[in-house]
Amino acid sequence: MPNYKKGDVIALGSDHGGFRLKQEIIKHLEEKGIEFKDFGSYTSDSVDYPEIAEKVCNSVAAGQTVLGILVCGTGIGMSMAANKCKGIRAAACSETFSAKFTRLHNDANVLCLGGRVIGPGVALEMVDSFIGTDFEGGRHERRVNAIMEIENK
Ligand code: RB5
Repeated sequence: MPNYKKGDVIALGSDHGGFRLKQEIIKHLEEKGIEFKDFGSYTSDSVDYPEIAEKVCNSVAAGQTVLGILVCGTGIGMSMAANKCKGIRAAACSETFSAKFTRLHNDANVLCLGGRVIGPGVALEMVDSFIGTDFEGGRHERRVNAIMEIENK
């Protein structure tokens, strides 16, 4: 149950399509005093998103970082790659309700955003909801466990 508490580290990653938005997220987390580890990309040069997704997800799955945020052009490629990584429940979201409920109900540990889809205002609101919402547990725990059993089959 990876609920965020003060002092925990958030893993960040983007490709070139998400680089600008990732930099906005970095500024936002710094202003809020939330610690993060940036797994790149560090420039807007073209880069393949699966390798960044894998680095972020390995860190989350190993417990070195509590939650991850991945940004590509649509958020979709990053989420596809992230959901191939063991222990990862990644959600591609475009509005705040989903970003909040994917923590509450799915215990999502990686949020995927589309730098070419949403503006920074909505994106930062989603980041706050995602980090600031705890998993509800209860009946949702059984369902999340059932999701995780699929990757062991
Ligand atoms: C890169 O051009 C783009 O394909 C990538 O950022 C992402 O949107 C893929 O899903």
